[in-house]
Amino acid sequence: MVALQSKDLLGIQSLSEGELRVILDAAANFQTLAARPVKKVPALRGKTVANLFYEPSTRTRLSFELAAKRLSADFINITAATSSAATGETLTDTAKTVEAMQVDFLVVRHSMAGAAHQLARQVECSVINAGDGPHEHPTQTLVDLFTIWENEKRFEGLKVAILGDHPRSPATISNIYGLKKMGAEVTLVGPSTLIPPGVDQFRVRVATRIEDGIAGADVILLSRVEITDANRLQIPSLREYARFYCLTPRRLALAADDALVLHSGSMNRGVEISPEVADYAFPLLVQQVTNGIAVRMAVLYLLAGERE
Ligand code: CP
Repeated sequence: MVALQSKDLLGIQSLSEGELRVILDAAANFQTLAARPVKKVPALRGKTVANLFYEPSTRTRLSFELAAKRLSADFINITAATSSAATGETLTDTAKTVEAMQVDFLVVRHSMAGAAHQLARQVECSVINAGDGPHEHPTQTLVDLFTIWENEKRFEGLKVAILGDHPRSPATISNIYGLKKMGAEVTLVGPSTLIPPGVDQFRVRVATRIEDGIAGADVILLSRVEITDANRLQIPSLREYARFYCLTPRRLALAADDALVLHSGSMNRGVEISPEVADYAFPLLVQQVTNGIAVRMAVLYLLAGERE
């Protein structure tokens, strides 16, 4: 089997289409395990995976833990709040300390763009970016690609609309890279204040009216919209955002028949997605979460293969 080109998974930007397909194929193989009574394989016996999370997470953190355990690796979990990071220890010092315990994989979530890249240059073990602020969230994109493939069986020419707080959603940038590499047509939807400058370089369509952005879409990818200190000027009011951009049943009816609705994280019902559409989409969102385990097993397995 073709392995990955790097010891680390830092972003989708640096992966080729071939590498993306290798990961998706491996995930499909691991997916079959989920249906078995015994879900474990010995592929990573003797290896150790460490989660190093400086930000809250449910899906990514738990699915990496389960993925490691289902591959028979040892697993440890470090959070900023309960580790020496809370005393002011630097990210690099904490990572090197963890690595000194003979860890093979560091799975890192951090608010700083480039945090995982910085660590990858300083440690020998494999670093996996589990979301670095506004930059990239490669495994979320792999989960989204895998779920789209399971349901649509194609990427070429697929019309995908992306909605959310784009400048702060790492999944947006990773999804643009991933979907474009696979041949999909991407439309970024949102008010002009949420369209990142320099978006032209990605060769995506931009729609500032949701009706234009989702008309005929085969897939709608959503991410959470909330008011934070960082975006207060770009989203002055959630009520206004919801009025113009919330995915309601009436707006969803403009998309292609049976369009897929995916959401990358915790939903803000009534803001980016109406409660009715959230309930309609829920079975697919559950499938997306379940797929997260198989995809992260594939990433760990392939990176281990690259090292050996
Ligand atoms: N999609 C995602 O990153 O979700 P979590 O924040 O729950 O990990």
